[in-house]
Amino acid sequence: MKTRITELFGIQHPIIQGGMHFVGFAEMAAAVSNAGGLGIITGLTQRTPADLANEIARCRDMTDKPFGVNLTFLPIVNTPDYPGYVRAIIEGGVKAVETAGNNPQQVLPYLKDAGIKVIHKCTSVRHSLKAQSIGCDAVSVDGFECGGHPGEDDVPNFILLPRAAEELDIPFVASGGMADGRSLVAALALGAEGMNMGTRFIATKEAPVHEKVKQALVAAGELDTRLVMRPLRNTERVLNNAAVERLLAKEKQLGDNLKFEDIIEEVAGVYPRIMKDGDMDAGAWSCGMVAGLIHDIPTCKELIDRIMAEADAIIRQRLAGFAAA
Ligand SMILES: Cc1cc2nc3c(=O)[nH]c(=O)nc-3n(C[C@H](O)[C@H](O)[C@H](O)COP(=O)(O)O)c2cc1C
Repeated sequence: MKTRITELFGIQHPIIQGGMHFVGFAEMAAAVSNAGGLGIITGLTQRTPADLANEIARCRDMTDKPFGVNLTFLPIVNTPDYPGYVRAIIEGGVKAVETAGNNPQQVLPYLKDAGIKVIHKCTSVRHSLKAQSIGCDAVSVDGFECGGHPGEDDVPNFILLPRAAEELDIPFVASGGMADGRSLVAALALGAEGMNMGTRFIATKEAPVHEKVKQALVAAGELDTRLVMRPLRNTERVLNNAAVERLLAKEKQLGDNLKFEDIIEEVAGVYPRIMKDGDMDAGAWSCGMVAGLIHDIPTCKELIDRIMAEADAIIRQRLAGFAAA
């Protein structure tokens, strides 16, 4: 399948693996890229720019296909060494960057000068237009369904994607709730030129996370996610567990007086404990509603090949059949 996204990133299939904290290691990115998609290393999971440089080198040892790095601009006090991370990306010869969180304007000139293609992930039409206006090559439009941070507008992809298509000139991928060939064809129908998946890629053989995390996704349904940190305007969609229920009870009890410090135990530093150790109640971890569509743990190649075959069959048979009727 050829779209502006496959052309932009030099990939075979219009499927991107979004940056994921403590999931997006070299193994994950390389597996997706080797399967013909665009794998993404999560920059900030690496503690220092030197560690990121090392992770990029490890990924390059595992694939000769294009892969990218995610740079998330967080609303936190201790600002990471972004210039250092950008240098590691440029010197590592990476050709694609997924930015997310705040406006990436500050780093954009450096990335563009190095010939790097930038796809900015955003949750609204206005942020997508901003990304376009500052020179991003593409956007990843993240609907309300998504795992992680859906923003505060709560617009699901059935509305958000066609709205993005109405306004944008640059290509975009659909993100949030994407799982299979049906998702891809629907995304294309709504105006996207590919799709970005987070949660679905965690339930793959190569995802470098504890087996319990994968099993939790297979077991979860579409009703099992919760929105946390809404009172802090830092909403995150997570899989429900004991820590999340505790967190939500605190939110209810403290109301508008809630501060980050009140919930620090449930959200800070929990990712390694969950993803590496499989301590499933350690805290809140991002997960999309798409968990309801995850029923198995294939390899990345099996997953992507299946998506492309299913999409092809839907277009050529099911949809073509309707057109002829
Ligand atoms: C466990 C997990 C961790 C994530 N961490 C990040 C992150 O560090 N930076 C980021 O930009 N997005 C992050 N995301 C969001 C994904 O990149 C992607 O946008 C989202 O998962 C898409 O929705 P889906 O889960 O329905 O596919 C994370 C998602 C998950 C599930």
